[in-house]
Amino acid sequence: MCGIVGYIGTQAATDILISGLERLEYRGYDSAGVATVEEGQVNCVKAKGKLLKLREKLEHVVSKAQIGIGHTRWATHGKPEEHNAHPHLNSARTLAVVQNGIIENYLELKEELISNGVEFISETDTEVIPHLISQFLANSTSLLEAVQQTIAKLEGAFAIAVVSADHPYELIVARQQAPLVLGFGQGEFFCASDMTAILPHTRTILTLDNEEIAKLTPLGVEIYNFAGDRVSRFPRTLDWNPVQVEKQGFRHYMLKEIYEQPAVVRICLDNYLNPNWHADEDPDYSPINLGLSPNLTDNLEHIQILACGTSWHAALVGKYLLEQVADIPTTVDYASEFRYSPKPIIANTLTVGVTQSGETADTIAALESERARRANLEPKRQAKLIGITNRPESTIAQIVDRVIDTHAGIEIGVAATKTFIAQVMGFYFLALDLAYRRKTISNSKIGEIIAGLRHIPSQIETILDTQADAIEELAHDFTTETEDFIFIGRGINFPIALEGALKLKEISYIHAEAYPAGEMKHGPIALLDNKVPVVAVAMPGSVYEKVISNAQEAKARDARLIGVTTAMNATEAAHTFDDVLTVPEVDELISPVLAVIPLQMLSYHIAAIKGLDVDQPRNLAKSVTVE
Ligand code: M6R
Repeated sequence: MCGIVGYIGTQAATDILISGLERLEYRGYDSAGVATVEEGQVNCVKAKGKLLKLREKLEHVVSKAQIGIGHTRWATHGKPEEHNAHPHLNSARTLAVVQNGIIENYLELKEELISNGVEFISETDTEVIPHLISQFLANSTSLLEAVQQTIAKLEGAFAIAVVSADHPYELIVARQQAPLVLGFGQGEFFCASDMTAILPHTRTILTLDNEEIAKLTPLGVEIYNFAGDRVSRFPRTLDWNPVQVEKQGFRHYMLKEIYEQPAVVRICLDNYLNPNWHADEDPDYSPINLGLSPNLTDNLEHIQILACGTSWHAALVGKYLLEQVADIPTTVDYASEFRYSPKPIIANTLTVGVTQSGETADTIAALESERARRANLEPKRQAKLIGITNRPESTIAQIVDRVIDTHAGIEIGVAATKTFIAQVMGFYFLALDLAYRRKTISNSKIGEIIAGLRHIPSQIETILDTQADAIEELAHDFTTETEDFIFIGRGINFPIALEGALKLKEISYIHAEAYPAGEMKHGPIALLDNKVPVVAVAMPGSVYEKVISNAQEAKARDARLIGVTTAMNATEAAHTFDDVLTVPEVDELISPVLAVIPLQMLSYHIAAIKGLDVDQPRNLAKSVTVE
């Protein structure tokens, strides 16, 4: 987390830095700052709180500086206070540093620096960096060399950007496990934690690799590895449209992203379904077009999925599909747990990493360790890795053998919505691809599932068109006194209950728990009374009656019952539920992608009515790039 941005060129740097930080604010927003170099001085302005506060401070500052760095912070070491905000300076205030990541050995380095007489202003891990660079600069005239020497002393995952008053035409950046991209313009160069910060200025981008350091000057970019060798790399031109990152009239990004879901599913269907496939024709022509080579898919005995947060919920839907459709035993682990307690190795395992950002530190580390621990084993025990991600240019792409791009477009709201739907779509395609290759279900069944998938976009549109007002009205009932919610679901819709609860927690700050409906009576039912609403995901199918019975049990304890079910069931459901959120008629196997929509909307409206910061909820960041 944290966002860093840097600029060197011919334009006023501060404006570019601030507009870049606006686009990075989703990465952290407890404080922000910029440092520019002008007339032999480093000018640093910082503010606690959102970027708006920094903007206000800068309103009366006139700066013509053409080089600078900026930072938006998600606190790890030291409270969100102005003195802990980045950039951090050396004692002489001649150089400034921004960092994203964690310097794990900072205490040791800090003690060493203090014993050399250095005074620290902040409690951050980052502040050791400018002091170290400054010490190395005492014996060197090269800023690049001093940064290289400093990096050699740092342990951890980090990305940094450095400017110096004594080297006013150099911006030095480096990357070790934390993301950093460079942007190439006409006589101007950029760096940022995420290319969205750079997109309004250039679409010519280069992603710095791990253990690379770059010197940006008005004349060009030089890249070196940490060993000091010059590296030859070529930027690429993106086809992203900056309009994708605007709110386009919606009150919040999250709402816009909820409404983009039909389009996202259409794009996924267009990309991954073979349009000419027919159930009764050529048996060698696959219905699915994921580009997975046979060495990744043949003889599979086990699939293990690693993910965090909402991606973990998508993985749970995936597990259901991979087991029930493709008949492959599948496990799902939190990447943060798996990396420190990996499962015993099973031969012929496909490992699937799911991460919308492609940068989540735990997911990346779990995948890397999985590859490493299988590296020297016999071939059938070696790692086969694929990634499901919305950012095919991100770090995950460098680790896995194949990426399934979820094509959801940039998601700005911290609460994942359209990327969740797109990840689940990725699992439909993966399960169908494997089912087809392994002949675990008939071609006509595959054809039926595909027909169901093709209906999803218009069905989501129906939900958005017909339910939005009712959901908003319902939301008013929970904005003042409700402190807890329970979500229940079973089978393929238990992950939807989990996802509904997570959405509510993260943006409305209402405590919410999800349980498999059948588990309620084993303990959690003790929580219920008339103050704790229960949301039951009750989609027709194999466990519908069971969920209804479990919902009745909750009702008998005075809980207000909200049901998510299909329109045809609504009359019957009205006897059970106090409030019914309806979705179109759908096969149980496809139902999660519809059932989640009313839950996203309910969370959104509760948070919006409460006047909360829907897109940037407290304590969270979009991309969790620290452990
Ligand atoms: O980028 P990733 O999918 O790896 O992110 C994982 C989680 O941090 C993320 O899903 C988080 O839980 C979201 N805020 C959920 O809305």
